[in-house]
Amino acid sequence: MSNVAVIGMQWGDEGKGKITHLLTPAFDIVARFQGGHNAGHTVYMQGRKVILHLIPSGVLHPNTLCLLGNGMVISPPAFLEEKQALEQLGVEVGDNVAMSPGAHLIMPYHFVIERLREERSALRIGTTCRGIGPAYADKAARAGIKVGDLLNPDVLRAKIEYNVAEKNILLRHYGENPLDTARILDEVSGYAEQLRPYIRDVSFILEKAVRQGRSILFEGAQGTLLDLDHGTYPYVTSSNSTAGGICSGLGIGPDKIDAVLGVCKAYTTRVGEGPFPTEALDQWGEYLRKQGQEYGATTGRPRRCGWLDAVQLAFACRVNGIKRILLTKSDVLDGLEEIRVCTAYRYRGQELESFPAESWILEQVTPEYRTLPGWRSPVAGRSEWKELPQEFKDYVRLIENLLEVDVALISTGVGKDDTVIRPDAWEGLVDLDLLEHAEH
Ligand code: GDP
Ligand code: IMO
Ligand code: MG
Repeated sequence: MSNVAVIGMQWGDEGKGKITHLLTPAFDIVARFQGGHNAGHTVYMQGRKVILHLIPSGVLHPNTLCLLGNGMVISPPAFLEEKQALEQLGVEVGDNVAMSPGAHLIMPYHFVIERLREERSALRIGTTCRGIGPAYADKAARAGIKVGDLLNPDVLRAKIEYNVAEKNILLRHYGENPLDTARILDEVSGYAEQLRPYIRDVSFILEKAVRQGRSILFEGAQGTLLDLDHGTYPYVTSSNSTAGGICSGLGIGPDKIDAVLGVCKAYTTRVGEGPFPTEALDQWGEYLRKQGQEYGATTGRPRRCGWLDAVQLAFACRVNGIKRILLTKSDVLDGLEEIRVCTAYRYRGQELESFPAESWILEQVTPEYRTLPGWRSPVAGRSEWKELPQEFKDYVRLIENLLEVDVALISTGVGKDDTVIRPDAWEGLVDLDLLEHAEH
């Protein structure tokens, strides 16, 4: 069986949670490779809404091994809270979940520093304030504390002492009260025994699994345009959310990834600050927000909304190696008389050849749109290609032609059954029969 990645193609919240939950029955393992509890992946389990933040969305299926890779940043209280919430729903979080000792810890001081930066610095990113950026910053500065360090009290103490001394310089600069080493040590040490059962060598587990012929689903968090290297820097998250992050974030070779599936909303949204060329600041943006219930799954913030952007999506195909797209939230466009798709950017009167790497160029581009007629009958709840209205099929074909991809799946609502699967695009990749008979 193949190993497949599910990657967000836009600015996050494309519906990766629904897709991962839907595809999990065809896989033995679901692995996350980056990010932390900044993610909010919404899944419906037997009609109940569940939002996963840190634990892979595959956890709702029994017999699926869920892995948290070394590329992630982990807040122990967030993990324990999520575990408890899942257990209250009757979902097991035991031997079926493993966390790499190489993942970095989000420490109590990371939240404090992030809040101060967001409140006081001239550069406001509009982060989720989960401590993600400062934790990754410490990792890159080689001052980070790893999950595995929880198991060695001497190492943990030395690292906390060093970090707190350093962070206190910054806090004093901001006029804040300094942190107390003993209190932080006490709090964090308390998590060691609770996390110990989950700490296992994820890279080694994956190698063994592959040798045994088991299949892996790599679950991306955030989206391509939030990638630290390829996104709209500095308005990005602090990890590699593109497919390139899979290998470094799990300790596997690129030969283990058979295909990258791009999850793409039928329009575009973004939360937080930063350029967004096709943002609709008129009544249509409002319409999309209302119809799509576009409010953040993690912070509840209203999402900025706009039209589909083929220039941006072509870039996402390039950097991730996407040849198959899973188109979500198509039903949200039901009822519109006209639908716009951006097909080119103009900058200083010239058409750009490709998506610009510089955010300051992106902020000044003028999108050029193609306008398509809306569809007369709704796609909401449809599950068969032949049931879809012709105008919607034309929209899908336009996406396929502009991006040179197959639209392999169309999501027409939040539930498993609100899904049109196009079998030809999955041949040799995923055993669709396993999805057909799975319980959700
Ligand atoms: P993720 O972060 O990529 O997993 O996406 P989120 O869960 O943050 O946001 C996607 C939202 O859209 C969630 O509320 C989903 O339940 C919902 N959703 C997913 N697919 C569809 C769809 O096809 N139609 C509609 N109307 N909602 C969808
Ligand atoms: P999922 O996995 C949408 C955004 C934040 C902010 C920027 C940096 O649910 O798609 P961070 O807290 O990561 O330092 O914030 O990234 N952001 C997301 N936007 N979906 C997400 O995750 C996001 N995770 C972070 O809004 O603009
Ligand atoms: Mg989300």
